[in-house]
Parts: sequence; structure tokens; C-alpha cells
Amino acid sequence: QVINFFSFSNQLALQFKIVRKAKEIRKRLDEIAADRRNFHFSEQVVAPHVETRVREQTHSFVRASDIIGRESDKEVIIELLLSSSDHENVSIIPIVGLGGLGKTTLVKLVYSDDRVVRNFELRMWVCVSEDFSLKMVIEKILKSATGESYGHLDMDQIQIHLRDVLNAKRYLLVLDDVWNDDRNKWIELRDLLINGTCGSTIVVTTRNKAVATITGTTSPYNLRGLSDDDCLSLFLKCAFRGEENWLPNLVEIGKEIVKKCGGVPLAVKTLGSLLYMKTEEREWLHIRDNDIWKIEQKESDILPILRLSYDQMPSHLRQCFAYCSMFPKGYEIPREVFINLWIAQGFIHSPNGNRQLEDIGNLYFNELLSRFCFQHVVEAFDGEILACKIHNLVHDLAQ
Ligand SMILES: Nc1ncnc2c1ncn2[C@@H]1O[C@H](COP(=O)(O)OP(=O)(O)OP(=O)(O)O)[C@@H](O)[C@H]1O
Ligand SMILES: [Mg+2]
Repeated sequence: QVINFFSFSNQLALQFKIVRKAKEIRKRLDEIAADRRNFHFSEQVVAPHVETRVREQTHSFVRASDIIGRESDKEVIIELLLSSSDHENVSIIPIVGLGGLGKTTLVKLVYSDDRVVRNFELRMWVCVSEDFSLKMVIEKILKSATGESYGHLDMDQIQIHLRDVLNAKRYLLVLDDVWNDDRNKWIELRDLLINGTCGSTIVVTTRNKAVATITGTTSPYNLRGLSDDDCLSLFLKCAFRGEENWLPNLVEIGKEIVKKCGGVPLAVKTLGSLLYMKTEEREWLHIRDNDIWKIEQKESDILPILRLSYDQMPSHLRQCFAYCSMFPKGYEIPREVFINLWIAQGFIHSPNGNRQLEDIGNLYFNELLSRFCFQHVVEAFDGEILACKIHNLVHDLAQ
């Protein structure tokens, strides 16, 4: 009974452990603060250094034979595109999901499908990324539509061209990788885009549900992870040169490795490619038994790509997010536990003192939810999330 009480499956015991750990950390911090006073160190505020990475531009080409699964997602999106002619002038369909989940890849499949090509007079692919200045986005749209560069024109001339190009056409515009969550900026762009004829559609891909809510005229399409079988096929494709080279002992270890990836194809590709042509069981076990953050990675691999999500977080959220790695992987944690611990750690401040800390904690929690940091596990009847797990990869990122 005692063993059961202290096991991770006992939620109460876990909460005790976390509270005890938090107390230890507080005590250590108090000691450091005392040292600071004794040694007369002074405090300096250093603006957090955010490394600006240039995100690789995406393009619309895809070899359908390289893509595994996603048949039903593709059909659902195509159905939405083809049926949108019945609705308003221009419909906007957001596709949301964690970094590396395959949003861009799915939209590429849709974009090059024959039915879609036939349905739209004009198709444009624009990779937006972090820079959402109105002029820049319009220039990219015009370049995609006409192949010409309009950078030398001023804003008024450029908007005339845009309206001219879109006028009375049924168009499909993909705005890939949108991060802007400023509604006013979005509305400025949207007003210039609603010039197309009925059935024109804009597809937005984003990692942030708030962006999806601001932009969408339909409810967002929440992309899910790939199935375990699809993940394994992708992994084996990346790790071996052809099926004839599969080694049964390594395939068995591969099955366990893909479980770490939580259905995220970029993670599957990262780990599979690391093992390409490696035939020693030892190397495979090393990948299986280590956290992903301990494994060396290239710029285009999963952790550097997910790090962008962290870099984009406002500083108040980063602290709360990083603290999540305190919880064990795969464990179900109630909403109040998160919030109470953040309050206990002093991460939550009320700017004018008249808001309850719990309310602000709730806002932070919802913000992390909308950035796919948590997987919902317990939902109330009204859709409120009562408890969550931290996604395996997100846990590695938080560390
Ligand atoms: N179904 C799939 N089959 C095979 N590979 C896939 C699949 N989906 C995605 N990939 C691969 O995984 C990687 C990440 O996919 P993608 O760029 O589409 O993710 P994303 O959701 O758009 O990520 P981000 O939020 O960073 O833009 C790419 O290398 C892509 O080729
Ligand atoms: Mg993408």
C-alpha cells in the first residue's frame, strides 16, 4: 500500500512531490538572494536575447509518393474547398497543429490535386512566416500570381495591382505558416483579398489557434498526428535503403522509437534519418533510450523547429512553459495544479493589482493550450479543459 501511495499513478502523492520540490527550489532561491545581498551584487535588467532565425521558405511542390497517410485529411480539405463556392465570397480555412505535424505538406497535396487545379482559375502559394508586414505579404501574393516583382511600387499602387489581379476570379490562396495574431493587421489584408468571386478560398496554416480564430470564416481544421503504423512506415523509409535491407531486430527497436514521436512526422524523420545506414543495435538503443533533446540535431530537425514556438512566446509564458518539464512525461495534470504552482513560483503578476492571480493563470493556461503545448485529456461538458498531458516532444523542448 505504501509503495502504491508513492507511485506516479497516485495523483495525490505526485502533487505532494511537486510541492516539496517547489519548496526546495524556493529555499535555494532564498539562499541565492541572501548571498546577493551579502556580496553587494547589483541587479541589471538584460533584455532577453531572441535569436532571429530565418525560416526556410516553403513552396507548393510535393511528390505525392513521398507522403504517407493523410488520405482522409486531404479529402476533407478538398471537400471544403470545392463546396465553399456555395457560401460567402471568400472563405478562409485555417489548418492548425504543432510544428512539424505536416500542415504544409497536407496543403501541398491539396494544392496540386487535379480537382482543385480545375476548380480555381488562379492558385497562389505564399509563405508568410514571421514577417507579416502588409506590403511584404501583398508583394509575395502578386509575385506568386504573376511571376513579377512589385517591390519598387508604393503601397497604394501595389494594392491597386492586387485588387486588379484578384478581381472577378475564383482564386485559391495559401498563406502558409502564419504567426501574426494582431487582428487589425489581419483585417487590413483581408479587406484587400475579399475581391474574388464566390468560391474563392484562402487556406491559412498556423501553429497557433488564436491565429486560426482571428483569420478563419470556418472553424479551424485541427490536424492530428499520423497513426502509429504510418509513423513506422515513414521511419523505416528514412532509416533503411529499401525494404530488402530491413533488419528484424532493428525494426523492433524502431517500433519503440516511433512511440516517442507522438505522431509528428518531422520527429519521425529526424530520428529515422539519424539512423540511416546504421546497423549496430547499440546506436539504435541510444536513440530509443535518450530524450530527444539529448540527441544532436541539424537546423531543420524537430527540436530547432519547435524552438521557434518557444522563441515566439511572450516572456511571461516562457517561464510557465519551461516549468512544465518538472512534471513527469505522459502524466495527466489537472489545470489547477499548473496554475497554483505558477502562482507559488511567483510567475504570475497582476499588472494593476486588481485581477485575481487565478484568473491570469487561467489565461496563461489557455494561451499555452492554444499553442499546442498540452494535449487535452479531461474535458468538461462545456469544452473547458480540466486536465492535460504535456506532449512528449514539447516536454523535451521545455527542458
Ligand atoms: N504524411 C507525411 N508523410 C511523410 N512525410 C511527412 C508527412 N507529413 C509531413 N512530413 C514531413 O515532415 C516534415 C514536416 O512537415 P511540414 O513542414 O508539413 O510540417 P508543418 O506542420 O507545416 O510544420 P511547421 O509548423 O513548422 O510549419 C517535412 O519534412 C515533411 O516532408
Ligand atoms: Mg509549415
